[in-house]
Amino acid sequence: MSHAWEGGRHPGWPARLGPLRVAAGLVALRPPKLFDATAWSRTRLRDQAHLEAWEPTAVEGWQERNAPLAWPAQWSSLKSMARRGQALPFVITVDGVLAGQITVGNVVRGSLRSAWVGYWVAADRARGGVATAALALVVDHCFGDAGLHRLEATVRPENQASLRVLAKAGFREEGLFLRYLDVAGAWRDHLCFAMTAEEAAPEGLVRRLVARGYARTA
Ligand SMILES: CC(C)(COP(=O)(O)OP(=O)(O)OC[C@H]1O[C@@H](n2cnc3c(N)ncnc32)[C@H](O)[C@@H]1OP(=O)(O)O)[C@@H](O)C(=O)NCCC(=O)NCCS
Repeated sequence: MSHAWEGGRHPGWPARLGPLRVAAGLVALRPPKLFDATAWSRTRLRDQAHLEAWEPTAVEGWQERNAPLAWPAQWSSLKSMARRGQALPFVITVDGVLAGQITVGNVVRGSLRSAWVGYWVAADRARGGVATAALALVVDHCFGDAGLHRLEATVRPENQASLRVLAKAGFREEGLFLRYLDVAGAWRDHLCFAMTAEEAAPEGLVRRLVARGYARTA
């Protein structure tokens, strides 16, 4: 059997997903752009206290790695991973304004067809259903056009907001990874959650969110 990606094509990329209406506004996903630098940097510098505890440890300080000048290298790296079929990196917009990112990474094809998903949402848009809507859009896309079978998300047990997002989306807890990731300066335990395509079928996550009143199709 031959697969589309064997010819170098990356199924499901590039893509624009949504929009979905949630309490915070109209949520849509699109590939990152070079001109996102200012909005991306302004949001992340402002939201250091909201984000830093959950993000991988880095050599540079928060100011340096989230400065406008740090974006071109990140954008270029995301773009080349996407071109190689290793990632599906999305910017989350709310009412057309950058409000976070959701990234599908470490895409493995063949008989695994699996990836991880990670996300952040700006503090001024938090608790309004944005991450849950973005996750539902991404999951349906990954199990649809992108041809994946399994998605995994790892989260620190202390991260109540992210645990709630995964629960609302219907991810299943698989276990605790001890000292799994170097986050905020130390090796942190992470709970592993996953979903396979069978668990999202037949209607998909977006329809489930809409049916439960968490979102409306715009
Ligand atoms: C986690 C995060 C992405 C959630 O984004 P969001 O757009 O606010 O998510 P949603 O609104 O879809 O859902 C959040 C849920 O968590 C709940 N919540 C938020 N903070 C909470 C807290 N401190 N304790 C308990 N529940 C909390 C919200 O009430 C909401 O649940 P509800 O709909 O039942 O009321 C955002 O808080 C964030 O970017 N955090 C920092 C980065 C991060 O943790 N990324 C994930 C790493 S695994």
